[in-house]
Amino acid sequence: MCRKSICQSFIAFLQQSKFVQILENISLKAYNTFGIDVKAAHFAEARSLEELTALLSDARWKAMPVMFLGGGSNVLFTRDFAGLLIKNSIKGIHPIAEDDHYVFLKAYSGEIWHELVLHAIEQNLGGIENLSLIPGTVGAAPMQNIGAYGVELKGVFYCLEALNLQTLHVEIFEAEQCQFGYRESFFKKEGKGKYFILSVTLKLSKHPKFNTTYGAIQTTLDELGEKELSIRAISRAVVHIRNSKLPNPAVIGNAGSFFKNPEVSAEEYIALKNEFPNIPGYYLEDGKVKVPAGWMIEQCGWKGKRIGNTGSHKDQALVLVNYGDAQGDEIYALALEIQKSVQEKFDITISPEVNVI
Ligand code: EPU
Repeated sequence: MCRKSICQSFIAFLQQSKFVQILENISLKAYNTFGIDVKAAHFAEARSLEELTALLSDARWKAMPVMFLGGGSNVLFTRDFAGLLIKNSIKGIHPIAEDDHYVFLKAYSGEIWHELVLHAIEQNLGGIENLSLIPGTVGAAPMQNIGAYGVELKGVFYCLEALNLQTLHVEIFEAEQCQFGYRESFFKKEGKGKYFILSVTLKLSKHPKFNTTYGAIQTTLDELGEKELSIRAISRAVVHIRNSKLPNPAVIGNAGSFFKNPEVSAEEYIALKNEFPNIPGYYLEDGKVKVPAGWMIEQCGWKGKRIGNTGSHKDQALVLVNYGDAQGDEIYALALEIQKSVQEKFDITISPEVNVI
């Protein structure tokens, strides 16, 4: 057999066996936006459902923990990971249906979220422009019902496909089954660790309604001289606001908001307002009030404070940063200190939005 045909047979063998390369003892520094230098004992990249199921069916990994990683933008590693870490690189974006008003756009979970936003803007499809520049992948979006500048994913969500990690069958979830809440979903509660989100289908509008309820959007549109309202203009405004307030993880390690904004009852809020007249609060449909954790953290004196290699960001106290070679447990220790002082000053518990591993 000539060398070329040996090569071809080998490639055919790899394709048939859905061979996925396993790397051992690999640094995860480039795979998490905090830039924490921990190691994964085993690391693989899945580029298709077939590669993923081949990996999950392999007896070698049955006895050890398996973890999935998208953009690594919502995770804080405090130690090495002793199992198999699977990087999701399953990609593709395509419309699956449309009517006079909507296009149903399906995106695979390994796509970068902002790439999907840009794709929608290119096609003049409205609904996710306010969610521009949110770091992370499409798969992470329903997991925590991403939200920003007056819009949440649940408003444009149509359905998703998820691989059941027990049966290795793909199941379809509609919005109701996903149990979306503020930075919450079924996949962070009962479904935690049981599913791998494979694709997300969004219902995007051909005749978008613009959402400029979040005050700074209109001001920024004016500042940027955007005279005509369009999804592209809103996206530009959101990108501008984010860039001016939130540190770029490529420059300074961070995972966006470290804590969720806590919700309190209306009575508790009135009591807080009596004691702290300037405390902001947003009334929710269920009568509760969302209180910005960033404001409380700032009032506790943490904003812009640096402790060793970590700190609370100077422009947004809710964002904890890695100034250089911070260890994950150093950042976590700071988070606990901040949590404690908010508890002491306001009698409110703030919980991490970021997954601490
Ligand atoms: N505030 C302060 N000091 C701070 C930060 C905020 O006083 O250091 C005050 C602001 O002045 C404002 C209020 O807190 O009155 C809310 O601040 P902001 O509009 O910046 O929003 P946030 O509640 O701190 C949330 C999301 C962000 C999202 C923005 C805009 C959460 C946990 N965070 O932040 O999402 O970009 O709203 O919609 O809900 C993320 O999840 O990673 C993220 C960045």
